Amino acid sequence: MTAALQPLLDVKDLMQRYTLPRESLFRPPAQVLALNGVSVQVEAGKSLGVVGESGSGKSTFARLVMALERPTSGQVALLGRDLNRIPADELRRARRDFQMVFQDPYGSLDPRQTIARIVAEPLTVLEETDRSTLRARVSAVLRQVGLRDADMDKYPHEFSGGQRQRIAIARALITQPKLIVADEPVSALDVSVQAQVLNLMQDLQEQFGLSYILISHDLAVVDYLCDEVAVMYLGRIVEQGRPEDLFERCAHPYTRALLDAVPRARAGEGRRRRGAQAIASQSAAATGCPYVSRCPLADQHCREAEPRLRRVGAAHLAACHKAEAVMALPQAAVEG
Ligand SMILES: Nc1ncnc2c1ncn2[C@@H]1O[C@H](COP(=O)(O)OP(=O)(O)O)[C@@H](O)[C@H]1O
Ligand SMILES: [Mg+2]
Repeated sequence: MTAALQPLLDVKDLMQRYTLPRESLFRPPAQVLALNGVSVQVEAGKSLGVVGESGSGKSTFARLVMALERPTSGQVALLGRDLNRIPADELRRARRDFQMVFQDPYGSLDPRQTIARIVAEPLTVLEETDRSTLRARVSAVLRQVGLRDADMDKYPHEFSGGQRQRIAIARALITQPKLIVADEPVSALDVSVQAQVLNLMQDLQEQFGLSYILISHDLAVVDYLCDEVAVMYLGRIVEQGRPEDLFERCAHPYTRALLDAVPRARAGEGRRRRGAQAIASQSAAATGCPYVSRCPLADQHCREAEPRLRRVGAAHLAACHKAEAVMALPQAAVEG
């Protein structure tokens, strides 16, 4: 494979199984398959949105892409390097290329450290840098996220939620990464502040040719920033495509339920409805489609045969036997 064709990120058949605390001496401990065969690629400069309700495996996916955990099986390759096979010191150096922004702007910044130290930290673990160079680098990234030099010597509690998320983004930017994994970066913020932070992320993407993996339970958030969206359900990707494929011709009943559950920015005033609210349960049927118990279109075939992720459009994949029927339905987006 030539360098030009090599994707930035190449995830292959990723599985992650967790063993839960034992509840009884007489039964084996229960297991959760948090990721069940996820494969996806991200090209340099492009961004991937990952959506799905709570428990679908989004954060597990983020931790594995960041090599914060080892997968049960499967591969995570960044620029051709399998992150779970390279030596520890090579992985440490490779971390320059991928950084993470977490959901909680209160919990993810150490309250006892100054902004300068917090923002500089990913760089200081990578290389010896003298204090004045470091402060110059911190100053530059703070300005890139709309903060000021005077903020360097303050502490996290002196900032609002939106500003703290800017600090978290500055910290991720300081190593000049190619990929930023952002796990629900705006979920804890007020809606008006969400838009500002998403705008900033978009500006940075244009300025630096960054890629994001943007994780959200809200399809409208990823629509804004991503070239492609993967919809996760119980540890699998059940639909994948460009945002317009999902909004205008969604092919999986689960995506449809997610679309029905969120107010739609694109379609003007949408009303919040119940639909995809129930927490995904891991005790899904062992055979057949994992979505069968919630699916309004399910038939006998769906109960017996598990649908594979298959092509339903040019750049559009879905794991549903009824995808063509779902795509033919009047789309949820036009109501309101
Ligand atoms: N460290 C862990 N130990 C045991 N179970 C876990 C662990 N992390 C995640 N899980 C389980 O894996 C599933 C997916 O979780 P998660 O990746 O956090 O989903 P999401 O981010 O989409 O809400 C859930 O059932 C969750 O309870
Ligand atoms: Mg999560």
